[in-house]
Amino acid sequence: MGNTMLPKLQTFAKRRAGSRINMIQIQQHTSLQSFNTFGVDVEAEYFARFQTEEQLMALLSSPEILLHVNSDYAHQKKILLLGAGSNILLTKHVEGVVLKNEIGGVDIVHEDEDYVYVKAGAGVIWHEFVLYCVEHDLGGVENLSLIPGTVGASPIQNIGAYGVELKDTFHALRALDIETNEWVNFSNYDCAFGYRSSIFKTALKGRVIITSVTFKLTKKHQLHLAYGAIKDQLKLKGIDHPTIRDVSDAVIAIRQSKLPDPSEIGNAGSFFKNPVVSAEVVQRIMQTFPDLVSNKSGDGFKLAAGWLIEKAGWKGYREGHVGCYEKQALVLVNYGGATGAEILALSQKIQQSVRDKFGILLEPEVNFV
Ligand code: FAD
Ligand code: EPU
Repeated sequence: MGNTMLPKLQTFAKRRAGSRINMIQIQQHTSLQSFNTFGVDVEAEYFARFQTEEQLMALLSSPEILLHVNSDYAHQKKILLLGAGSNILLTKHVEGVVLKNEIGGVDIVHEDEDYVYVKAGAGVIWHEFVLYCVEHDLGGVENLSLIPGTVGASPIQNIGAYGVELKDTFHALRALDIETNEWVNFSNYDCAFGYRSSIFKTALKGRVIITSVTFKLTKKHQLHLAYGAIKDQLKLKGIDHPTIRDVSDAVIAIRQSKLPDPSEIGNAGSFFKNPVVSAEVVQRIMQTFPDLVSNKSGDGFKLAAGWLIEKAGWKGYREGHVGCYEKQALVLVNYGGATGAEILALSQKIQQSVRDKFGILLEPEVNFV
């Protein structure tokens, strides 16, 4: 793809019985720099946005995209779904089609004595959804305040923060299976949620396009205040009996104090997952490093990857355009002008040095394209 090529704009209209005309534009050779929070400048061969399920269906039956759906590469290599681009590392130009999900809408669909079921379009900004819940006194997602991204991407890695994961309030989702072209519903069980994982990152990777998610939110709230930082923040504010809004505000303040704002410094949050290891591994490392940070997690122990990276000497490191954030070693940053390959190269050096020092292989959380 040459930079000298002017973007070619193709527009087509599709009329469906009883619905308005949907105008859809498919652009060619579009820069994705403003569509990923690392701010990496690569091009998409084709790029289109959709605001409704009808538009998505129309797009998938457009000649440019059909070509790719029918190719051997099919869904996995030729269609890239994009939300807010806050958990991807674009290492090269994207061949095929990038589809940006902009389906909006937040609606209460059901209510009983204890719970309110709220359906949100996949393109709704996650934090705006959290604020809607706080505003309507619906509990369960307040600890997940200020996580960047869209509602539609939230089940992909089962987003989590401060003792809460998406799976705790997730009820169901609706998605298009692009292999069979059928609409499918997934229950909480169907999603096979795990730590920063779901069926959409494993068996069904790249196969479904999520268009809406329904949440089961509380009327009688159970606050999750176990994280020391939340307690400290509430104490600082002199709050003894917090509301969900207080918890949301506390989480926002904590996050702002240590995570870089992608609008100022390119990043994708934690670059690696926190490794879960056996008690034997914890004991082995503690013989040399008695201050190892670890927490019981299921059958094993979750280590703080940020601690491992800091101990390996990377915190605050800078090399050209890229670096390891000075306030949180688990976050790799683009100081401006970095390529995806440079960020990837730094991540591999960090991975190798943590492996050499502790015998632990860090697994990336970020999705590589
Ligand atoms: P994208 O980056 O656009 O996409 C991520 C993946 O999901 C891609 O593989 C994409 O193809 C796929 N995808 C996106 N939308 C759809 C869809 N509708 N259907 C099917 N596939 C889709 N994450 C946490 O869990 N906890 C945190 O505390 C946290 N903090 C962060 C802090 C910062 C500063 C940043 C930059 C990121 C942080 N993240 C965190 C990571 C990120 O916010 C989440 O992973 C978020 O859910 C990504 O949403 P997105 O819309 O940007 O997804
Ligand atoms: N630590 C260090 N040095 C560092 C960073 C962390 O020693 O540079 C140690 C500290 O001891 C600290 C511990 O690691 O107490 C944990 O750090 P922090 O509370 O910042 O959380 P984290 O484990 O680094 C995880 C998630 C975050 C989430 C926070 C809060 C992962 C991979 N990351 O980070 O999620 O917001 O907990 O719950 O699980 C993301 O997924 O993108 C993300 C930001």
